[in-house]
Amino acid sequence: MKVLVIGGGAREHALCRSLSLDPDVNALYCAPGNAGIAEVAELRPVDALDGAAVARLATELGAGLVVVGPEAPLVAGVSDAVRAAGIPVFGPSAEAAQLEGSKAFAKDVMAAAGVPTARSYVCTTPEEVDAALDAFGAPYVVKDDGLAAGKGVVVTEDLAAARAHALGCDRVVIEEYLDGPEVSLFAITDGVTVLPLQPAQDFKRALDGDEGPNTGGMGAYSPLPWADPKLVDEVMETVLQPTVDELRHRGTPFSGLLYAGLAITSRGVRVIEFNARFGDPETQVVLARLRTPLASVLLNAANGTLDAQPPLCWREDAAVTVVIASHNYPETPRTGDPIEGLAEVAAQDGPDAYVLHAGTRREGDAVVSAGGRVLSVTATGSDLAQAREKAYKAVARIRLDGSQHRTDIAARAAEGR
Ligand code: AMP
Ligand code: GLY
Repeated sequence: MKVLVIGGGAREHALCRSLSLDPDVNALYCAPGNAGIAEVAELRPVDALDGAAVARLATELGAGLVVVGPEAPLVAGVSDAVRAAGIPVFGPSAEAAQLEGSKAFAKDVMAAAGVPTARSYVCTTPEEVDAALDAFGAPYVVKDDGLAAGKGVVVTEDLAAARAHALGCDRVVIEEYLDGPEVSLFAITDGVTVLPLQPAQDFKRALDGDEGPNTGGMGAYSPLPWADPKLVDEVMETVLQPTVDELRHRGTPFSGLLYAGLAITSRGVRVIEFNARFGDPETQVVLARLRTPLASVLLNAANGTLDAQPPLCWREDAAVTVVIASHNYPETPRTGDPIEGLAEVAAQDGPDAYVLHAGTRREGDAVVSAGGRVLSVTATGSDLAQAREKAYKAVARIRLDGSQHRTDIAARAAEGR
């Protein structure tokens, strides 16, 4: 099978790495990709938001499967364009991707499907904003309705800050604060059958101890030794299957990856958000543990034949990923800095520890930073403590001027807390 992956971050590198290890995949392309992905896939330039261009490229390459990584192309209808060209595509239609593209749409689907989530109001006027903030009290949770690359959500004790954020959005969702640990659970679906993956936890704040600003994610680990073993079954029954059923009944079936961001509150599991694609950096650790070859699973989802998919097999191993971000991330990240130490990791830490590239590009013989999150150093081990040790040993070999990373990824979980 020839596979084309759209995107160019660490999630796409993790997807391409797994696909490159799949004996069913005899040609692997990524567009636009990055310097690390170039080692496992052939890169092609493309405007990932241009459905016609992606469909043309897929046709030209004779792709038997297109996998759309990020949310922006999904919301822009890239899957629809590829599907219309007669090529199987892993990724929801633009309409179904509204589950991520619009917080208000997601709330509406959850209400109709009886899925537990924070109580909320959708507001469009200052009066509605004030009434909603007053109704819930602090801490305030204010969410821009549209796609905002992880920057649309403000959680604050400060009423003035909550109000200012709300008034800066056209349409805003204001909701009840959910306490308790967060879990990311991904499911692969063809719109009918739902196949959950293993849960992971991501670290959203920039600094150790969950301090500092929100980011796209600074690290992740899986499995979650502290979680209830029945968690996946419960979320399947109360969240994933009802959501997929509701979207199908609406005539906008969701096929692709359904990402449930969950809070485990004292009153039970609640959905914080849905995403319409693999999460980053959780994908790096979930795929590190998946033993089943990936291409046929994604193709079954794309073709509507997921009921024929044999159960997924998982490694006993734990996985940890640590993100190395550039100077000044997430505010105004500096790019263009040379990255050293990549070959040392490959030579001395492989195959249990490896570097996935997030924002990098090749400049002559050098690999340089090209984004806020630059690398996602991933390792597996017999337990989280060992996976952590291997990941941080590899992190220590990487040299990138001004870079930052968290030192406490999976630390509490590894200590059994
Ligand atoms: P979202 O983009 O919806 O995932 O929100 C980003 C982050 O804001 C989440 O990962 C949570 O840490 C936090 N957050 C979002 N909604 C809530 C909520 N209702 N209560 C508490 N924290 C929240
Ligand atoms: N890990 C958070 C996200 O992918 O949205």
